[in-house]
Amino acid sequence: MKRYEQERNFLKSNFNEFKNIKTDKMKGIPQPEKVKSYDINSKIINLPDVDKDVLKRKDIYDCIKDRRSTRFYNDESISLDELSYLLWATQGITGTNKSGMTYRTVPCSGATHSFETYLFIMNVDTLEKGIYRYLPIEHKLLFISAMKDVDERIDAITLEQPFVPNFARKAAVTFAWSTTPYRSEWKFDITAHKKILIDVGHICQNLYLAGESVDIGVCALGIYDQEAVDNILQLDGEEEFIIYLAAAGKKRIK
Ligand SMILES: Cc1cc2nc3c(=O)[nH]c(=O)nc-3n(C[C@H](O)[C@H](O)[C@H](O)COP(=O)(O)O)c2cc1C
Repeated sequence: MKRYEQERNFLKSNFNEFKNIKTDKMKGIPQPEKVKSYDINSKIINLPDVDKDVLKRKDIYDCIKDRRSTRFYNDESISLDELSYLLWATQGITGTNKSGMTYRTVPCSGATHSFETYLFIMNVDTLEKGIYRYLPIEHKLLFISAMKDVDERIDAITLEQPFVPNFARKAAVTFAWSTTPYRSEWKFDITAHKKILIDVGHICQNLYLAGESVDIGVCALGIYDQEAVDNILQLDGEEEFIIYLAAAGKKRIK
């Protein structure tokens, strides 16, 4: 069998096998934390309330039609209103159910939402260059650390890009989504992993469409250095690790 053929099974449904499995949830093992906790003494940054006034293009048809991966950005910063909107559009909480599971702007299998959003901020009004984490329940930012050379770090993380070399370092912000797989495995066991990958695609698509609606160009980044990004964000690489990134910035006319 060819090397890649072995990996194909991962794409298939394994629900018949799953039917015979007693999941950790069924065993009565307590549910893991639904969102990552943080030290309450950390520096927290308020985000502006999300308001439709931020929109530059209000027609969803146009946003869907015109969405393109954008790898050329100008030097203009993005505003905190725009960042707040992009975070809400990708992971914002829009409801909760009886067991405290969150509903968000993106669908997610079993509402397990195994993701955290880290931001490499390079050019956002009023924010120091550095690393931040989105707190979806509070709709705030957790400041993790300042990083003067954040553009160089992003450049190193995003390796040799095939289309436009080194484009991510010119972005205003790079989103990095981690997964904590056990949030989904607790409920879905061996079927969790395919779901996690599908779920994260919804997040990035919302970033693309929300970006389009405020004239911010987005480009997904599947090519990245796993160890380097996990190390910078101090993720253990087992219980939590990055699975997808996307660069965003004001579009530059080529
Ligand atoms: C999962 C995924 C990973 C991607 N990774 C990269 C990447 O690392 N670098 C890049 O320049 N584009 C990347 N892209 C963007 C694709 O190249 C782009 O979507 C494709 O060429 C189609 O162009 P369009 O998005 O403008 O329709 C990625 C897209 C997806 C969905």
